[in-house]
Formats: sequence, C-alpha cells, structure tokens
Amino acid sequence: MRILAIESSCDETSASVLEEVNQEIHVLSQITATSLSLHAATGGIIPENAARMQVKFIMPTIIEALLKSRKTEDGKKDWDTAREILDKEIDAIAVTYGPGLIGSLLVGVETAKTLSFAFGKPLIPINHLLAHIFANYINRKKDEITFPFIGLIVSGGHTDLLFFKNPKDYRWLGGTRDDAAGEAFDKIGRLLNLSYPAGPEIESRASTVEKTTIKFHSPIINEDNFDFSFSGLKTEVMRFVEKTELNEPLVNEICFATQKAIFDVLIKKTLAAAMKNKCKMILVGGGVSANGTFRHQLTSNAKQLELEILFTEKEYSTDNGAMIGAYALQNIAPVDWKKVSANPELYFA
Ligand code: KG4
Ligand code: ZN
Repeated sequence: MRILAIESSCDETSASVLEEVNQEIHVLSQITATSLSLHAATGGIIPENAARMQVKFIMPTIIEALLKSRKTEDGKKDWDTAREILDKEIDAIAVTYGPGLIGSLLVGVETAKTLSFAFGKPLIPINHLLAHIFANYINRKKDEITFPFIGLIVSGGHTDLLFFKNPKDYRWLGGTRDDAAGEAFDKIGRLLNLSYPAGPEIESRASTVEKTTIKFHSPIINEDNFDFSFSGLKTEVMRFVEKTELNEPLVNEICFATQKAIFDVLIKKTLAAAMKNKCKMILVGGGVSANGTFRHQLTSNAKQLELEILFTEKEYSTDNGAMIGAYALQNIAPVDWKKVSANPELYFA
C-alpha cells in the first residue's frame, strides 16, 4: 500500500509518499517547507502568518513529493507527471486533521479532501499527536515494536504519556497542565535572547557545561501521577535572570540547569508509567526528543530497569509528513471525505 501523507498543523507544510514493504515502512519521498524564519523574527508563531504560508506551500510541496517518489524529479515542476503518479501509484491519502492551528490545519485538510474527491482515493484522517509516536515505525522492522508500550510525546505544543494496547486501543495516562516541554524551552530561550525555537541552542550551550551550582526545580516531580507542569520553571528562571548579570558562561549554565529540570521529571514519570503498566517498551516522539542528552539519559536510566526505549529518527522527530503516513499504515481507517473536517482541539478520543 502506497500513501500520500500531508501535514500542515502548524508552521511546517510537509508531504510524503511512503509504503510498507516486508513489514517495514519506507519513505520514498518527503518534502517539507517551513515558515520558521518568519516566526523566528517575531519570537513565536503568529497563526495568521503561518496559515498564509501553508496556502503558498501546499501544492508545490505535494507535487514535489509525488515526483520525487518516482525519482523523476529533475527540478522542473512537471504537473502532468505528478497527476499521473497520484492517479496510478497512490492507494490512499492521509492527512493531519488535528490538533493544531485552525488556519493551518484547514489548508491541508481541504486540499486532501479535494484530491480524495477528484482522484477517488480513500482519505485517512490522522491525529497529529499519535503520529509522533508511530513515527517510530519508519525504517524499522514492524516486529521490533511490541505491544503493550508506553508512548511519550514531547513537542512544542504537547507533553503526554499514553498506554497503547495496539495502534487503535490506547489510554491517556497524563500530560502537562500548562506549558509543554518544548514551549518551556522556547519561553526560557526568549528570556535568554536565544534563537527560536530554542531547544537546539539550549542543548548545544548545555553541552559545554560540566557542572554548575545553579539548580532549578523539576515541577511536580514528586507527585504520584503522570502529569507535568512547566510554567513555574519559566517563572523560576525569569526571577533568576532578573537578579543576575548575564554573561556567556552563565547563560550556558542556565541552559544546563533548565535542561536538567525538564529532563529529570520527564524521565522519572515516563519510567514510572512503564513500570506501573507493565510495559517493557517505551516509544518517544516529538521535537524535544531530538535532544541527544535526553536520548542518552532516558536510555541509560531505562536500561537499569530492563526497559527498552525507541526514538524516532531525528529527521522524523519534528513535524513531518512521513509520520502521518506511518500511523495511517498502522491503522488504515478511511473516512468519507465529506465527513472529514479540521479539529484544532482534537486531543485523544
Ligand atoms: O514536534 P515539533 O516539531 O512541533 C510541535 O508539534 O510542537 O516540536 C518543536 C519543539 C520546539 O519547542 C523546539 O524548541 C523543540 O521541539 N526542540 C528541542 C530540540 N529540537 C527541537 N528541544 C530540546 N532539544 C532539542 N534539540
Ligand atoms: Zn508536532
């Protein structure tokens, strides 16, 4: 089965063609356009701007992904060939229908519905959050992943722990009560005048620090639940910054202490979720999971408890079209295009 997958929930416009061969998902093409630089200038995403860029990027992105899937791409926009590929080689279309920014979501959803109608292709609406977890299937043998498992989503908009019995049957265990982990990185980055999004810069600055006396609290780390809260950490860092004269080494130490406060609570609660629910495996996804220090620390702590941790390949950690197709291939559930609509508030059904 070959799928055209479309992601447009926020500031990335991404299209991918992928298929499952011998129980392994292969990405034949993935094209991603981003309006990130536009948002970097404003220090955060302005939804109206993001939606306008989605409109601009959506068709070129899809056409390029289709052409590249057949390796006919020679730089020119051959619309007829793209149309032929969609008609003859694509079995279904998958699209993110939520959660996300309404304007951005509408662009991908309405485009996918139009293509589904015009080409008579089944349409598979996908929950963006679940797709972050199922991105772990990309370039990995299907039987390496065994149910039940714990899923951890750590992105700019979400921090959630879920228990999966199978791809369709899952239970939400807990999540953030306020800011997501990535959002905490970005807001603290803004306090320190770092680049946006700040996760990668905080990671690289933290990696230059061997030890520090600065310590921030890991919010609600000792509560016996699977919830998170990161807005207090931002306030704690803000208070510290207000009464301190910043210099380069100090900023690096603040990055180190911030990262530690966030990762300590994420690691403790994720491992506890696996132990409590008798899962041997944990699948992690979302932009924050691109962080090498997080990968290393979570993996080594899990080993001591004989738990196995799987991360998505870094390329598929941040928002991308392939992850949408990867989940669609694990849970092929087409819906009549007339019944599909964008749902910005979609959470876990
Ligand atoms: O999954 P994603 O691309 O978008 C959402 O669905 O939100 O995640 C983006 C988030 C941003 O907050 C960014 O700062 C964070 O992921 N991020 C990182 C790293 N790379 C991206 N956080 C920590 N360390 C990183 N290396
Ligand atoms: Zn995401």
